[in-house]
Amino acid sequence: MKITVIGTGYVGLTTGTVLAELGHRVACVDKDPRKILTLRDGRVPFYEPGLNDLIKKNLGKNLEFSTDLDSAGESEIIMIAVGTPPAENGSPDLDFVLKAALESVPFLNGYKVIVIKSTVPVGTRRIVEHVLIAGGADRSKFDIVSNPEFLREGIAVWDSFNPDRIVIGSDSQKAAEICRSLYRPIECPVMLTTNEAAEMIKYAANVFLATKISFINELAGICEAYGVDVKEVARGIGYDKRIGHHFLRAGAGFGGSCLPKDLSGLLSMARKAGKKALLLQAVQEVNAGLPELIVKKTEDLLGSLSNKKIAIWGLSFKPETDDMRFAPSLPVIRLLLQKKAVLTAYDPIAMDNAKTVIPDSVSMTSTMYEAAKGCEALILMTEWDIFSKVNLKRLKKEMKKPVFIDGRNAFSPLELEKAGFLFTGMGTSSMTTMEAGFLRR
Ligand code: UGA
Repeated sequence: MKITVIGTGYVGLTTGTVLAELGHRVACVDKDPRKILTLRDGRVPFYEPGLNDLIKKNLGKNLEFSTDLDSAGESEIIMIAVGTPPAENGSPDLDFVLKAALESVPFLNGYKVIVIKSTVPVGTRRIVEHVLIAGGADRSKFDIVSNPEFLREGIAVWDSFNPDRIVIGSDSQKAAEICRSLYRPIECPVMLTTNEAAEMIKYAANVFLATKISFINELAGICEAYGVDVKEVARGIGYDKRIGHHFLRAGAGFGGSCLPKDLSGLLSMARKAGKKALLLQAVQEVNAGLPELIVKKTEDLLGSLSNKKIAIWGLSFKPETDDMRFAPSLPVIRLLLQKKAVLTAYDPIAMDNAKTVIPDSVSMTSTMYEAAKGCEALILMTEWDIFSKVNLKRLKKEMKKPVFIDGRNAFSPLELEKAGFLFTGMGTSSMTTMEAGFLRR
């Protein structure tokens, strides 16, 4: 099939490239000429493992990049995969989606399926339909499918080939079938439903994941008060298939361009409907309180932070991405600077992006050891694999005081304490039965 994908962010670019790899003819369109030049050169404008190779493989064959929508004239499917950033009131800004729809109107020269891939609030399908008709589109020339995306940054290519499910929402069976055949080679449950249910499924999925994270983070605090290791508790409850092991890692909380935005989006949908959404508010509050908690833990170990040199390890919102959007490291850095701490920071991949959002007073270093040099504490904010390979002896030598705040529970407390570090995690302690060898006897 011939497909035009509008928007070359994580979702649009990955989906377009994967569809090309599946044998479709794909044109990825973006307004930003610099982005398109970079892509035509076979380079990805952001860090996403595996995507570059796949683009290079398909470029000039099944895959092309353009700043104009001309390819849409020949396409059977126009896929809208532009951003829906949060507006000030928390509701998603639909400007880019509606613009993309309007700009597609001149290309609706024969029957086409408009696929909404972007995360959009319930009812957006209807708004898009109005925009298309108001823009002069003939209603018989299009149908709209709501086909949300569930890929994760950092593992987007794998997720696209191996989704847990594909959700296709449409009131047109013809359009739903066309959309379904797009993904034919992929084996997974395909759910056909209404546009509105598909729109809500996307929010519900992300907000449920956010709820799991806030649940475990709240539990971490209670565990800490009772000397229980939250990691052990997560492991224990995770064996229950109804609960599962995923998304139960306590730590600095959820960031990124999706979970925080979709939580605010669902809250704003609830508000508009006059619903209270108490649980969702709590999920947001728990997450918002975590940066302060990390700073407090640092103060508990160091006393006043004024003029204390502190290292931050990891800046991106999670490992395997250079995305700094809503990264928990940002509020932690802001709070530490307010307390007059002197900061150094290191991230293996996100440094360039970080420099655009982190104050110049934070000195960025080129190695993790350099960041720790002369520091009185080190705060781990992103659990990049490289940090787990650290030589603790060397690290201790580099630091002025061996104080380690593990904001992602990535390290073994016992190992750090054995190496002579003063340690604190997020609901963990070195006193776990497993680590103490109690159960091994
Ligand atoms: C999320 C969803 O997982 C995807 O399914 C969805 O398609 C995507 O949003 C989207 O809407 O586009 P992503 O934002 O890439 O994907 O990141 P996640 O892997 O979900 O992680 C989100 C945040 O939660 C990160 O900051 C991570 O560190 C944190 N997290 C995750 C925890 O704190 N604990 C956990 O147990 C898991």
